[in-house]
Amino acid sequence: MSDEQAWDARYQESHRIWSGNPNVALVAEIAGLAPGRALDLGCGEGADAVWLARQGWRVTAADISGVALQRAAEHADEAGVTVDWQRHDLEETFPAGEFDLVSAQFLHFWEEFGREKILRRAADAVAPGGILLIEGHMDHGPFRHQGHHEGHEGHGQQQPHFPTPDEVVAALALGDDWETLKAEVHPREQQGPDGENHTRTDSTVKLRRKA
Ligand SMILES: C[S@@+](CC[C@H](N)C(=O)[O-])C[C@H]1O[C@@H](n2cnc3c(N)ncnc32)[C@H](O)[C@@H]1O
Repeated sequence: MSDEQAWDARYQESHRIWSGNPNVALVAEIAGLAPGRALDLGCGEGADAVWLARQGWRVTAADISGVALQRAAEHADEAGVTVDWQRHDLEETFPAGEFDLVSAQFLHFWEEFGREKILRRAADAVAPGGILLIEGHMDHGPFRHQGHHEGHEGHGQQQPHFPTPDEVVAALALGDDWETLKAEVHPREQQGPDGENHTRTDSTVKLRRKA
């Protein structure tokens, strides 16, 4: 099964997988930024992209899954906003242009994949003065033994490593024209498939390309 088919199958498991709300870290970290051009990488069902568009950002959003993008487009229609939805396997192709905000929120896979390569390409797409925001998990949280993990663990694929914020920054290998605004881990409450609230650990990396 290709990565695209695997993600489409994951999204087809239910009519909606994620909460429909924008990610808390995105909302917190971009508060106060003047809206400009934004790129959302691995946008899934589009909650972040729609929220950004509602804040006045001109948003391009990309995902490998056409199923997710179809849902995201419906979400945008309901919200009355326009987003440029683009299907890409970001390891292979990437949206054109440069952006004042490039956001990668939980760009994870249940297998090892070319995340570092995608994030380096993401940095290239940040305009002078722009922000690269990378939010990631540090563990599987309450979903460790659920759903897509179970469905694909038997394929002999390597389990993903969840990098620390310092590892994320180091892998980007950025030049002197960048400053690190935040590189930290933090707890986050999340409801698990059992309906219980769990505390899991996430990482935030926020970088700025100097103007
Ligand atoms: C854990 S989900 C996060 C979705 C969304 N950003 C959120 O926070 O709800 C990871 C997303 O990355 C996408 N993805 C995984 N590998 C990808 C790739 N190579 N190119 C583009 N998108 C990819 C998946 O389809 C999925 O929508």
